[in-house]
Amino acid sequence: MAKEGVEKTEETEQMIEKDGGKEPAESNCVKGGGGGGGGGGGAGDDKEMRAVLLTGFGGLNKLRVSKKVMPEPQEGELKIRVKACGLNFIDLMVRQGNIDSPPKTPLVPGFELSGIVEALGENVKGFEIGDRVMAFVNYNAWAEVACVPVDFVYKIPNEMSFSEAAAFPMNFVTAYMMLFEVANLREGMSVLVHSAGGGVGQAVAQLCSTIPNVTVFGTASSFKHEAIKGSLTHLFDRNADYVQEVKRISPDGVDIVLDCLCGENTGKGLGLLKSLGTYILYGSSNMVTGETKSFFSFAKSWWQVEKVNPIKLYEENKVMAGFSLLNLLFKQGRTGLVKDVMDKLTRLYNEKKIKPLVDSLWALEEVKEAMQRIHDRGNIGKLILDVEKAPTPLMANDSTETSEAGEEEEDHEGDNENKERMPFIQ
Ligand SMILES: NC(=O)c1ccc[n+]([C@@H]2O[C@H](COP(=O)([O-])OP(=O)(O)OC[C@H]3O[C@@H](n4cnc5c(N)ncnc54)[C@H](OP(=O)(O)O)[C@@H]3O)[C@@H](O)[C@H]2O)c1
Repeated sequence: MAKEGVEKTEETEQMIEKDGGKEPAESNCVKGGGGGGGGGGGAGDDKEMRAVLLTGFGGLNKLRVSKKVMPEPQEGELKIRVKACGLNFIDLMVRQGNIDSPPKTPLVPGFELSGIVEALGENVKGFEIGDRVMAFVNYNAWAEVACVPVDFVYKIPNEMSFSEAAAFPMNFVTAYMMLFEVANLREGMSVLVHSAGGGVGQAVAQLCSTIPNVTVFGTASSFKHEAIKGSLTHLFDRNADYVQEVKRISPDGVDIVLDCLCGENTGKGLGLLKSLGTYILYGSSNMVTGETKSFFSFAKSWWQVEKVNPIKLYEENKVMAGFSLLNLLFKQGRTGLVKDVMDKLTRLYNEKKIKPLVDSLWALEEVKEAMQRIHDRGNIGKLILDVEKAPTPLMANDSTETSEAGEEEEDHEGDNENKERMPFIQ
């Protein structure tokens, strides 16, 4: 877990560089007393903070830790001293520029965080300085401090740790909304989920177990099966012919298919649906192949998805849906709906029916290793950036990540082949 007042290590110093960020906007806020204490390698004053910076789209060498001007809360915002941040698959895709309408770089990545309220902007109701909170942000999570509009902030249940809270919103709201808002999961139904050992996959499995007699089929890399087999009814290797396996067990197919591997799996998923079943597309992990964006994978996936024929859906009584939580929150303004879902999820957590599965904790300075772990399919559950954690010392023959951190380099897809990954902390 997090360490208090960790000293800066040498490699941390090397990785931190000055960022000529913008002047902070004028503050109308109520200041908190003392804040959260600034984490390992903190910037050392209250005008600057450490943050992970994505300097451009591409490989791991586009990531570094940098000093940024401390943000101050505007009207309706909370200033949060960040304790932990979620690292999601989408962050990998953002780094590569593998998303629709990517924003301009440089940017601070990250879409969710947990921490302590340090100051309140004007007209913020329902929160006090010192509250433990978790939040969605539209970027800017991976920093020591974030200012977040109140509609995206939620109180953390008493028994939930900061790392669990950073693992909670994105995975559980996504899983809940797909299962209950879009697909109307009910007793006795069956669900197929890919990447079952990942953050969303494990949230899906746990939420399915809150409804009686739900059968969950999952695919995942084989080495995860021992760890996660208790959370699913049937588990298949990700390379197996899961269509045949599901049909062997359930000849009629399944009620709900959750697909984060759009492309050929879309056709397979639709084919596996029972009548009145729902297929939901919610991701495109399979577009990530090498360290940088592959235009070939992108084109292949979308070409296959566009082959879906709506007349066939009509004839076969099937529902095809899409779900994007970030768009729902930040483009479509459905914050009230998401707040209701967060309330329900918090109750389920308090009743001990669900619990985020944290894979590993990483310092901000270890963000490249953390990203490499998700890229290598190594995670079981969620990766967390722990803002107060000191980086694990580099291994003797690993001259890679921190030494290149401050330099612009060409992207090389095979770059990591000879690198030894840092040990991680659980
Ligand atoms: N639409 C939304 O609102 C929403 C919200 C959150 C997440 N998502 C999507 O849901 C999916 C899961 O997200 P997550 O954050 O929970 O991540 P995650 O499942 O923890 O992601 C890592 C796992 O994905 C699997 N995987 C599949 N294709 C991969 C590839 N090309 N490269 C590396 N790993 C691959 C691997 O598991 P196996 O090897 O075991 O298969 C890997 O361990 C992603 O597609 C993400 O974009 C969508």
